[in-house]
Amino acid sequence: MKKFYLTTPIYYPSGKFHIGTAYTEVLADFIKKYKKMQGYDTFLLTGTDEHGQKIQDKAKEEGKNPKEYVDIQAESAMKLWKEMNIDYDKFMRTTDKYHEIAVQKIFERFLAQGDIYKGEYEGWYCKPCESYFTETQLVDGKCPDCGREVSKMKEEAYFFNMKKYADKLLKYYNDNPDFIKPEFRKNEMINNFIKPGLEDLCVTRTSFSWGIQVPSDPKHVIYVWLDALTNYITALGYTSDNEELYNKFWPADLHIVGKDIARFHLIYWPIFLMALNIPLPKTILVHNWYTMKDGKMSKSKGNVIYPEQLIERYGLDATKYYLLREIPISTDGMFTPEGFIERYNSDLCNDLSNLLNRTVSMVNKYFEGYVPKYNGIQNSVDESIENDAKNTVKTFENYMENYEIANSIQTIWNFISRSNKYIDETSPWNLAKEMNENQEKLKSSIYHLIANLKQIAIMIRPFMESTSDNILRQIGIEKENINWDSLNDYEKIEGIKVIEKGEPIFMRLNQEEEVQYIKDLMKK
Ligand code: ME8
Ligand code: MG
Repeated sequence: MKKFYLTTPIYYPSGKFHIGTAYTEVLADFIKKYKKMQGYDTFLLTGTDEHGQKIQDKAKEEGKNPKEYVDIQAESAMKLWKEMNIDYDKFMRTTDKYHEIAVQKIFERFLAQGDIYKGEYEGWYCKPCESYFTETQLVDGKCPDCGREVSKMKEEAYFFNMKKYADKLLKYYNDNPDFIKPEFRKNEMINNFIKPGLEDLCVTRTSFSWGIQVPSDPKHVIYVWLDALTNYITALGYTSDNEELYNKFWPADLHIVGKDIARFHLIYWPIFLMALNIPLPKTILVHNWYTMKDGKMSKSKGNVIYPEQLIERYGLDATKYYLLREIPISTDGMFTPEGFIERYNSDLCNDLSNLLNRTVSMVNKYFEGYVPKYNGIQNSVDESIENDAKNTVKTFENYMENYEIANSIQTIWNFISRSNKYIDETSPWNLAKEMNENQEKLKSSIYHLIANLKQIAIMIRPFMESTSDNILRQIGIEKENINWDSLNDYEKIEGIKVIEKGEPIFMRLNQEEEVQYIKDLMKK
């Protein structure tokens, strides 16, 4: 059995996750479930990144010790993923003992190998990002990643010798065209960071204590990126006395990360792995961000939307559909209340829900609820819809191969529109008027519509599971044995019995009222 190991970043547990943060996880969960349906042995890793100054400060603000604080936060992250039906296989926490031990081993190994050396660090430090920057990296004197104030700091520190690996990394990029997706991120790394000369990375701190201690020099704690990035292997038991999962799943097939942390994953992480002399992940997918009309989503701006809020009112499937559909991966997507309701009404209600409804009611009306036998004699209309069905699967799979997520989902919706048009093209109600003459045509039309709905239900399953269940139930197909291969059984629907009275899966919303409702949420 082929395996597929994918990861999301481990999240900073420093408050509730908004829809932007949840996007990374929704994306990963979709890809995992898709691969799982295809028969892969999948493993999805997520978790929390619990060390560092920011967490230490946050805990203090709330009058808790850091451990108490992160325990509560990790709990609420798990609760959210549960509510979002995220099918992760392991939730790792960087305060887990096995992780701390493994990171210490890795650090001492790098030190012994001469990859890590002791020096002194001075630079511009952005506290929220926990990153040092050089003068030239600053943008208008501010943090290039988040735009916030930076301050000058100096301390004794250990460094990782990145320069030593720069050429090797470039060569790796060139030899492995699938390593970075989308491709322009690769050029960004080369032009902005590697060509100008890689800076050695500072990997310890003495200015705070909430971190993993350096065993051979305990006044230092290991700086968060060496601690955080290694989670992808320590979670599998790397260097522990049980490396079974590691042996089975490493190298990762896919790391998914947001654009703000691209640099750490595309440069430092591969170099750490080279220094450990273990294989690199197959692909690192960098996604863009959800922004709001007034720019970045932030609590202080009062423009934040939380996934629970959307789920509570519009359901999980609509929320996931919107999130996956609206970011084209390689450019930012904008969340607007208008756009959300518009998609709900047009894509989910008009297109999908109506297709199901119209079809089910026709099966009942013309064939007493049983999908008719189609004699397979093809006219051009039949041929064309069957080709569209096949091409939809192929196109979808090709997009997924390249992790072009919004395009892959769009492909399904094109097919839904196509199926609605097919109803108008074949006009079953006209055919029914002269039943004797048109019987075969009518059978064909209804038969193909049900076959299409079955295909749609299968294809949306990895991200709209309960909608998929609902469609399958209404068209009388057992969901138990459905997997991606079931798409090959386009024709195996003859004689199935659809539900007697169809139920709309999405009801039209009042645009104005709901837009206002979401706007009010954002002010909370
Ligand atoms: O960076 N739109 O954690 P994090 C889309 N602990 N994605 C967004 C977003 C938005 N508006 N805001 C945040 C960290 N994200 C580190 C990772 S990995 C070894 C350590 C995404 O909680 C962001 O891009 O700040 C990232 O992928 C994820 O949320 C977690 O961010
Ligand atoms: Mg962040």
